[in-house]
Amino acid sequence: MDDFVGRQPELAFLAGELERARAGQLRVVTVEGEQGTGKTSLVRRSLEGLRAAGSGERVLYASADEVEQAVPFGVVSQLLDGLSADAHDGLLAQPAAPAEPIRVGGALVSVVGRRAAGGRLTVLVVDDIPWADLSSQQVLAFALRRLRADPVLCLFTVPSTVAGARSGATNASPLQYASAVAKLMPPHYTRAASQSHRMPWPRI
Ligand SMILES: Nc1ncnc2c1ncn2[C@@H]1O[C@H](COP(=O)(O)OP(=O)(O)O)[C@@H](O)[C@H]1O
Ligand SMILES: [Mg+2]
Repeated sequence: MDDFVGRQPELAFLAGELERARAGQLRVVTVEGEQGTGKTSLVRRSLEGLRAAGSGERVLYASADEVEQAVPFGVVSQLLDGLSADAHDGLLAQPAAPAEPIRVGGALVSVVGRRAAGGRLTVLVVDDIPWADLSSQQVLAFALRRLRADPVLCLFTVPSTVAGARSGATNASPLQYASAVAKLMPPHYTRAASQSHRMPWPRI
């Protein structure tokens, strides 16, 4: 995004979390703020350099939506789209029975763990995570319990308008692993823009 302005403290904070994850420590950061405050843009911006680096570091990205909450594994399948086909082949395919969160979670742990063993960072982004389908939340919670000493950064955005989004984090919710929270205030890029147009009152 070329017209991205401000958010220097938040970008510095996320860069620090990225470094901690790189050093081999699971970090789970939730970015909280009202709708339209710039959560999605901030997360994308903070990862731009990473994608350009071509270092084998990988961003797996999913965006949750209220209308897709009933789609089992919807969010996890979006995350897996960021892996090469052979890395996730069959992870969600189950010929006879429906896929189970524990089995899919185990498979996700082994895929991410394999990358970690090669010293490669994996970033898992779930935008608007409170809307993630239940089975995906269970998969993520299962995986995070087992990736505590791995180079993994989770960035979850949480609209603060979703009542009890964080306080309601259950045992099945990946939000319970939040190690850091970035709270976004009202969008200061608008304030900055309006300030530049503010003229002083003329002196009489
Ligand atoms: N730092 C920023 N500089 C300029 N525009 C921004 C910035 N952050 C967000 N925006 C713009 O504000 C709008 C809402 O941002 P978005 O990231 O979608 O908010 P949220 O995810 O919190 O709902 C978008 O049009 C986006 O381009
Ligand atoms: Mg958003």
